[in-house]
Amino acid sequence: MLADLDADAAADVASTLGLDAASCHLDVTDAGSVAEAMAFAEQRFGGIDVLVNNAGLTHRPAPLEDMPDAAYDLVFGVNVKGTYLCSKHAIGALRRSGGGSIINLSSVAAIAHRSGNTVYSASKAAVVAFTRNLALELAPTIRVNAILPVAADTPFFVSAFGERLPAAAAEAMRAGIPLGRLCEPADVARAVAFLASDDAAFITGECLVVDGGRNLA
Ligand SMILES: NC(=O)c1ccc[n+]([C@@H]2O[C@H](COP(=O)([O-])OP(=O)(O)OC[C@H]3O[C@@H](n4cnc5c(N)ncnc54)[C@H](O)[C@@H]3O)[C@@H](O)[C@H]2O)c1
Repeated sequence: MLADLDADAAADVASTLGLDAASCHLDVTDAGSVAEAMAFAEQRFGGIDVLVNNAGLTHRPAPLEDMPDAAYDLVFGVNVKGTYLCSKHAIGALRRSGGGSIINLSSVAAIAHRSGNTVYSASKAAVVAFTRNLALELAPTIRVNAILPVAADTPFFVSAFGERLPAAAAEAMRAGIPLGRLCEPADVARAVAFLASDDAAFITGECLVVDGGRNLA
C-alpha cells in the first residue's frame, strides 16, 4: 500500500510495481486521514504487517534567527507528528496480524550536524527517540526501528532549495561522504527490506545509519 499526500504519484508508482499493489491519499498530519488510510490498508490486504513512516520534508537552510515559524510547524508536523499519528493508528492492526514491524525514516542529520539545519535535524532526532521508546513499549509483539540515510537526490530537496539538488550542493555533500557517493533510494529500500524481514527478527530499537560513513567524517 502506497499512501501519500500526492495520491496521483502514489497511484502511478503502484501501477508500475506489477504486484498486488494499491494506493491511497494520506495526510500524515491529519488524524482522520491516517485512521482512514490504516482502515483501508487493513481491509484491502486483510491485515497490516509492516508500517514504513517515510513521509518527510525539510526547510530551506537558514540560521535559527531567520527560521520562519511556519517552517518549524511544517517540518515537525510531517516528520514528527506524522510518525506519531501513523504509528499510533497502526498498532491495533499490527497486533491483530499477530505482530509486525514499524520502520521510521529518520536521517543522518539526527546525529551529524551543520549550520542552518537545526529544525530538520531536531525533528529527525525526535524520530530516533520516538523509535527507541516505542520499541520498548511494543516489545515483544511489534519491532520498531529507524533508518538514518544521508543525502539522496530525490524530490526531497525541492523543500530545501525550491528545486532538485543543485550540482554544486550535490558535489559538496558527496565530498563529505567517505564512500564517495550520495545515497540511492535503493540503498534505503534494501535497509527497509532487511528490517521488515525475519532476518531482523531479533532487532528492535535500532537506528541503522545508511550514510556511506558521513557521520564518521
Ligand atoms: N532525500 C534525502 O536526502 C534524505 C536524506 C535523509 C533522510 N531522508 C528522509 O527520507 C524520507 C523520504 O524522503 P525522500 O527523499 O524519498 O523524499 P521525497 O520528497 O521524494 O518523498 C517524500 C514523500 O512524502 C510525501 N509527503 C509530504 N508531506 C506529506 C504528508 N503531510 N502526508 C503524506 N505524505 C507526505 C511527499 O508527497 C513525498 O512523496 C523522508 O522522511 C526524508 O526526511 C531523505
